[in-house]
Amino acid sequence: MSEIKRIGVFTSGGDAPGMNAAIRAVVRTCIYYGKQVFGIYQGYNGMIEGEVEELGARSVSHIIQRGGTILKSARSKDFRTPEGRKLAYETLKKHKIDALIAIGGDGTFAGLNVFYNEYKIPSVCIPGTIDNDLPGTDYTIGYDTATNTAVEAIDKIRDTALSHNRLFFIEVMGRDSGQIAINSGLAGGAVAILVPEEETTIDEIIAKLDQTAKNQKKSSLVVVAEGGKSGSAIEIAQKVTERFANFETKVTILGHLQRGGVPTYFDRVLASKFGVAAVEGILKGKNNVMVGIRGNTVVYNTFEAMQEMSPDIDHESLRISKILSI
Ligand code: F6P
Repeated sequence: MSEIKRIGVFTSGGDAPGMNAAIRAVVRTCIYYGKQVFGIYQGYNGMIEGEVEELGARSVSHIIQRGGTILKSARSKDFRTPEGRKLAYETLKKHKIDALIAIGGDGTFAGLNVFYNEYKIPSVCIPGTIDNDLPGTDYTIGYDTATNTAVEAIDKIRDTALSHNRLFFIEVMGRDSGQIAINSGLAGGAVAILVPEEETTIDEIIAKLDQTAKNQKKSSLVVVAEGGKSGSAIEIAQKVTERFANFETKVTILGHLQRGGVPTYFDRVLASKFGVAAVEGILKGKNNVMVGIRGNTVVYNTFEAMQEMSPDIDHESLRISKILSI
C-alpha cells in the first residue's frame, strides 16, 4: 500500500446525476482502506479559497439517490491561472491532502493534468458529465439519467404533437456532443436528429419532412443538440417554417432540466464502480489518469493517451434512426 493518507475529493464543471453516488463511493472506499477523506466544495474555486471539510461514512448517507452534488460545482476561471493553482496547492498543503480525486468532464481533467504536471499531487479523474463525450470510457456518469429525462420529455411532446398535427423541434443539451440527441432521438422516435458532429442542411431536413408527410405522417419530432451545426432549434424551426408550411411548428428547449433528477440505477452503479476504482487506483500508484468503463471492465487512461483518442458519436444509432423514421 502507498503512503497516501489524506485524499481530497471534489466535483467540477456541469453537475450530473450520479455525482453524489460517486462522492459516496469515494468517501466510503477511502474509509474502508483506512484513509482520511476531505470534501473540497465548489470545485477548483473551493480549492483556491480553502473550502475544505473532512468527511466520514455518515457524511454521505442518503445521497446515493440524489441528483446534483453535495460538494457543489463550478467552472473556475481562476484555476486557469498559475496564481490560482498556487493558491489551490497552498490549500492542499495546509490540510495535508496528498492525493486528489476529481469528478467532472474534459475541462476538469485538463485542469487536473496541468496541476499534476506543476505540483505532482497524485490524482485520478472520474468522468462525470451528462454529455458522454469523453474518450476512454463507454459511459460517463449522468448520461443515462439525462437521456432518460430527455426521452420522457419527448414522449410527452409526442402526445400533444399528435393531437394537433404539429411539427416539434426539441432541443436537448450537448454543446459539442450529439450523444444525448442521438439516443434520446432514437428512443423517442424522432424523424430527424441533428448533432454538432455532422452537418445536416435545411434542404435535407425539408426533404425528410416532405417524404414522411407523403407517407401519411401527421406529426413529427426533430431532436436538435444545442450545439448543432445547422443552428439552434429556434433558428432551424424558423428556416424550415419559411419553406415548409405543411405543419404548424413549435419549439421546446429542454435545457437544464436534463441535468437534475434522481439518477438511474445505471448511473448509480457506474458511479459506485468508478468511485471504488478511483481510490483503489490512487492507492496502487495510478497517477494523472481517468477511470473509465469498456464493456464491463473498469480501465484507467492517462491524460496523454486520451489526447490520442477521439470521442466518437454513436453512428450506428444514427443509422438505425434513419432507417426507422420513414
Ligand atoms: O457539459 C454539460 C452541459 O450540460 C452541456 O451539455 C451544456 O452545453 C453545458 O453543460 C451548459 O453549461 P452551464 O450549466 O454552465 O450553462
